[in-house]
Amino acid sequence: MKKELIINADECYRQAEQKAEHYFKLLYTQVRQKTYVSTLTVDIQMWKHNHIHHHSLFSLFSRGNRKPDSRQYHHYIQWLNYAGKLDNYLDRSISYIFMRDLSKSLDSPDTLNRIKSIVDNLKSDLTKKDKDETFSMAGLYRIAQKEGVESSLIWVINKLKTVSSNIPKGMDAEQAQRKLIKIIAGVIMQEVEEMDDNISSVGRTRRLDKAIRLGYSYGLTYPFIDDLLDAKILSNEEEKQYTDLIRTTLITGNVPELGEWNGNNVELITYIHSELRDAFEYIKEHQQQETRIGFFEQSYVFFHSQEVDRLKDLSNANYTNEELYIPIILKSSSSRLIVRSVIGAPEDKELDSRTFFYGIYNQLADDFADMFDDLKDGAVTPYTYYLKYHKTRPDLINPFELYWTVISNLIHNVYNADKKTCEVILDRAINGLKRYKERVGTNKYTEVMDIFASGDATFNKLIQHMVRKADDVDFFDKLLRDHMITILKNERKEKEEFQNTIKSLRHQINDMLNIPKIENNFLTEEQIIDAANYSLEGDGKRLRPIVAWFMGVNAYGLNSAAIEPLLKSLEYMHTASLIFDDLPSQDNASTRRGRSTLHEVYGIALAELTGLFLTQKAVEEQASLDNQFDSKTVLKLMNYSAQATANMCRGQTMDLDSKGKQLTLEQLNMMCFYKTGIGFEASLIMPAILAGENEVEMDALKKFARHAGIAFQIKDDLLDVEGDTTLLGKPIGKDAENNNSTFVSVLGIEDAKKKMWENYCIAMEVLQEVPRNLTFLKHFLDYIISRDH
Ligand code: IPE
Ligand code: IPE
Ligand code: MG
Ligand code: MG
Ligand code: MG
Repeated sequence: MKKELIINADECYRQAEQKAEHYFKLLYTQVRQKTYVSTLTVDIQMWKHNHIHHHSLFSLFSRGNRKPDSRQYHHYIQWLNYAGKLDNYLDRSISYIFMRDLSKSLDSPDTLNRIKSIVDNLKSDLTKKDKDETFSMAGLYRIAQKEGVESSLIWVINKLKTVSSNIPKGMDAEQAQRKLIKIIAGVIMQEVEEMDDNISSVGRTRRLDKAIRLGYSYGLTYPFIDDLLDAKILSNEEEKQYTDLIRTTLITGNVPELGEWNGNNVELITYIHSELRDAFEYIKEHQQQETRIGFFEQSYVFFHSQEVDRLKDLSNANYTNEELYIPIILKSSSSRLIVRSVIGAPEDKELDSRTFFYGIYNQLADDFADMFDDLKDGAVTPYTYYLKYHKTRPDLINPFELYWTVISNLIHNVYNADKKTCEVILDRAINGLKRYKERVGTNKYTEVMDIFASGDATFNKLIQHMVRKADDVDFFDKLLRDHMITILKNERKEKEEFQNTIKSLRHQINDMLNIPKIENNFLTEEQIIDAANYSLEGDGKRLRPIVAWFMGVNAYGLNSAAIEPLLKSLEYMHTASLIFDDLPSQDNASTRRGRSTLHEVYGIALAELTGLFLTQKAVEEQASLDNQFDSKTVLKLMNYSAQATANMCRGQTMDLDSKGKQLTLEQLNMMCFYKTGIGFEASLIMPAILAGENEVEMDALKKFARHAGIAFQIKDDLLDVEGDTTLLGKPIGKDAENNNSTFVSVLGIEDAKKKMWENYCIAMEVLQEVPRNLTFLKHFLDYIISRDH
C-alpha cells in the first residue's frame, strides 16, 4: 500500500534550517565581536541597584530577618511575605513564565494586567493558612470541581499512574511524572490565555477538559520519545524500529501498526505504542484543518532536530559550530512553538518569532546546569563538546559567551530593551548561576568558570560579583519544582513503606486466624471448623484488622499482642458477612477470595451455620480482651460491636431490598454506609475504645470511616464492572446479574467515580482536622480508590 505523505519532511526541515542558520549567523557575529560585554555591562550596572543590598548591622543580627532555607516551601513563602518580598517574587516569576511559556512580551499593558491579576490571586492563595494541600490529590480534585473538570482530572491521574508504573528501570519515574505535569500545566495555561474574558462557564470547562487531555497527549512524547531514546534503554535495532515508527507517523499523519518487534522491550513498546497512538489520534482529532499541517511540520522539525543532535558522537572532533548549534536552535524553538499548535491557537507572527529566538536561551541554560551529567553520558551538548575540545579547537564558540550573547540579543533586539524584560531575564540568569554554584560547591564552580568565562575579565568579574552579592533573584517555579520533587519522592517512599507494612501485617494476621479443632466424637463439629478455616484461609486482603492494628499500635500505642483478639474478631465478623453475602439467597456468587464459595463446597446449611459460628467466635475473642483491658472498657467495646453487627445486617437488608429499584443518592449513601462503612468504622473505633479516646476524636474517626467506607464500596461496585476476575478472586458482573442498585447502576461509571472521589476528599479533609499523625490512613484512602482488587 502506498503511504500517503501529508508533509514534505525534507523540504520543511530545510526551510526551518535556513531560518536557524540565519539566526545563528547573527549570533555568531555578535559573539565574535563580544558586543554583549558593553551592552550587558550597562544593563547590569542598572539592574544591580535593586539587587545589591547593604545590610545594616542590626538586620544582620536580628533573628527575624534570617532567610530560611528555600527548600522549605511553606516557610520560605511565609518569610517572603513577612519580609515584604512576596509581591516582587511572584511578579518576576509569573512575568518570566509569561515570556517563556506563553511567548508574551512584557511591554504590553494587557499582559501586565494579566500578570498582576495572577500574582494577586496566587498571593492570596499562598498566604492562606493550611496550604499544605495544594499538591494533594484531594486539593487538586477540589479545584477540578470548581472548574467542572473532574472527569478529566480523574482520567489524567490514572494516566499518570500508569505512565509512572511503566517507566523502565534506568529512567527516573519522578522526573517523568514531574515533566508531564509541567507540560500539562503549560498547555492549560496556554489555553486559559487564549480564552475570552467573557467565556461562558460551560465553554471554559469544555476547553479546560480538552487542554488537560491535549497536554497529557503531547506531554507523553517527553518521557516516551525524548527521554526514552536519551536513556539508551532500547538496543540499536530497537531504536531504529522505534524512530522509524515515529518518523512515519509524522510524515504520513497516521500511526503505523506495531508489527513484529525485534528486541527485548516488546512489552514496553507495546504499551508505549498504544498509548502514543491514542495520544496522537486525540491531538489530530482536535486540530483544525488550517493548523494541522503546521502541527505535523513543527513536530517533524522537533523530532528530527532532536535526532540529529542525539546521534552526535562526542569522540568526533570535527563538528563545526553550525553543526553544533543549528539543531539546538531548531529543537528548542520547535518544542515551544509546538504547544501553540497542539492547542490549535491562531497564528501570531510576532509571538512565533519571539518563541523562535527565545528557545536557545533556555537550552543553553539547561545544558550549562547539566554539563557534567551529560559528559558522563557521552552526550554532545555545546558545553560537553567545548569541555572536551576547547584546547584543540580555537574556532569553537564558547557556549557560555554565546549564552550572554543570546541574552543581550533578546533584551535589546527581540524585546526592544524593555526595562521589565531586562530585569526579569537578568534575574533569571544570575539566579541560574547562583543555584549552580550552590549545587556543585564553590570549588567546582570556580573551575567551571575558569574554563567558560574567558571572554572578558572585567565582565566576568562583574558577573561573579553579582552571583555572590545579588539578592532577590529567585523564582517561584524553581521553588515549586524542588518542592514537587521532594513531595513525589517522599510520597513514593511513604507508599513503599505502607505497602511493605501492609504485606507483613497480612502475613502476621493470616497466621493468627486459624481456629483450632477440639478433639471430640462428633465429625460435624470438625466440619464446621474446617468450613470456617476454609473461608478464612482464602486470599482476603485483611484490611479491617490491618487498620485496627495501625490505629491500636501506631496511633494509640497499645500493645500489639494485647489487641490480637480484636484483630481476629474483626476478620471473623467480616468473613462471616461475606459467607452470608455469597449465599444463593443473597448474591449467589460462586467464587470468593480466589476459591469456590463456602456453600458450593460445604453446602448451604453448613455455610449458614459457619457464618453464625464465626460471628460468635468474634464475640468470644472480644470477651477475651478482658485479660488485658479493664472489664468496663471491654463491655463498652462489645456493646459497640453488637450494634455494628446488627447495623451491617440492616445494610445487607437494604441491599437485597434494592434489587430492581432506582435508589436515591441518599438511600445509596445510607446503604453503603450500613453494609460496608460500619465494618471500617469498627476497625477504627474499637481500638479507640480500648485506648479510652475522647468522643471528639471518635466522632472525627466515624466521619472518616463513613466516607472511606462509601468510597470503598463505590470502588467495589466499579470493580464489579471494570475489574479483573482473577485479580479480584470473585466474579464480576454480579451486580448487573442480580439487578442490584449501586452507585454505578444509578449514576453510571463516570458519575460514580466522581462520587467516589467526593467521598475520598471529605475523608482526607477530616483527617486534616484530627490532631494526630495518621499518615497511614491517607495512604489507606489512596489505596482504596486506586486498588485493582
Ligand atoms: C468485600 O470486602 C466486601 C465489601 C465490603 C465490598 P473486601 O474487598 O475487603 O474483601 P476481602 O476481605 O479482601 O476478601
Ligand atoms: C457486600 O457488598 C458488603 C458486605 C459487607 C458483605 P458486595 O455484595 O458488593 O460485596 P462483594 O462484591 O460480593 O464482595
Ligand atoms: Mg451483596
Ligand atoms: Mg456480593
Ligand atoms: Mg460487590
